[in-house]
Amino acid sequence: MKKAYATLSALAVLALGFLVPVKAGAPPKPAGLPATHEAGFKAFSVKCARCHEPQRAYSRKYTEAKKIDALVSRMARKPGGAMSQKDRKAIAAYLLWHNKRGAR
Ligand code: HEC
Repeated sequence: MKKAYATLSALAVLALGFLVPVKAGAPPKPAGLPATHEAGFKAFSVKCARCHEPQRAYSRKYTEAKKIDALVSRMARKPGGAMSQKDRKAIAAYLLWHNKRGAR
């Protein structure tokens, strides 16, 4: 019983950390961001920050457009994740640029 309670509390803490929007989560603008990805970065900072820190997206270092598109579409399908086709495209293009340029 005690163990179940501990597990539950741990889960609750995890869930809370997840759901409470992190205000300080605005990602720093990457150095050398080309003007063409300015809009994508902005959309990413706003849209991908609604449920978790947007930096979480960087944990997946996909460099294939297909995988990035699938990830962005999957996020957009989550409840409350709706975003325009334009934003999805811009975000995916930005992430592709970000991941391809590698860690700097
Ligand atoms: C509506 C809420 C919501 C929005 C908006 C959202 N996410 Fe997520 N994201 C989640 C949840 C919930 C999880 C954990 C469960 C999962 O992986 O499906 C997650 C997990 C992730 C992960 C780790 C899991 C994996 O498959 O690698 C990445 C990367 C990610 N999100 C990227 C993004 C990006 C990029 C955007 C913006 C296009 C975004 N998220 C917007 C809710 C959201």
